Amino acid sequence: MKKTSVPGVLRKGPMLYIKSEATPFNERLYKWQGELYRPWDPTRSKIAAGIMNGIQDFNLKKDSIILYLGASHGYTVSFLSELVPKGLIFAVDLGEVVMRDLYLLAEDATNIVPILESANHTNNYATSICTPDIIIQDIAQKNQATIFLKNIKRFATTDTVCLFSVKCASIDVTKKPKEVKDMVLQELKPFCKNIVCKTLSPWEKDHFLIQCQLK
Ligand SMILES: C[S@@+](CC[C@H](N)C(=O)[O-])C[C@H]1O[C@@H](n2cnc3c(N)ncnc32)[C@H](O)[C@@H]1O
Repeated sequence: MKKTSVPGVLRKGPMLYIKSEATPFNERLYKWQGELYRPWDPTRSKIAAGIMNGIQDFNLKKDSIILYLGASHGYTVSFLSELVPKGLIFAVDLGEVVMRDLYLLAEDATNIVPILESANHTNNYATSICTPDIIIQDIAQKNQATIFLKNIKRFATTDTVCLFSVKCASIDVTKKPKEVKDMVLQELKPFCKNIVCKTLSPWEKDHFLIQCQLK
């Protein structure tokens, strides 16, 4: 197993691993040097795909506060929850069905705060969260860049590391993914610094992961 840019996350072949005996998504644990490891599948998680493709260290610490927009059933959130045992994850999603799973996950995890709300309505959760060290967004909406900017302008400090998974087809299916990616980068540039963009291929088709901070 090899180290990645993220402390506590190891890589072997086409899979990431974290040291854990938990199996909230019925994973098959892998034994290595007498310890159990939980596989983190980059085809199910944009953050895992980004780590596979060499995103920079995004300052994930044991006590990090994370605002996660588009938490869904909590697959990625469940790994982050284990990686920030003394931190907190505010997990926002507008899907009522996925929120049920997220609540069940949060019951066991203790550091996940599920929030049933649209990430476009920042006013509705502004008083339920505290200043995040990391903001992650993974939502398939046409106006995903506007939603991302709205959240980082409202909640990020200039130190907060922001990760934005861009699903090109949701923004404009008639344009080439690279054109959509360039459009999104232009939209972010006036407000963001330290911008790094990685393709998520081959794990996710026509997706990019943008890492940046508020100017
Ligand atoms: C691709 S899934 C996220 C997968 C998740 N990030 C993971 O890796 O486990 C996208 C999620 O975004 C949610 N979503 C879409 N629009 C949203 C919005 N405006 N606010 C909050 N969540 C939204 C959907 O309900 C869906 O659960």
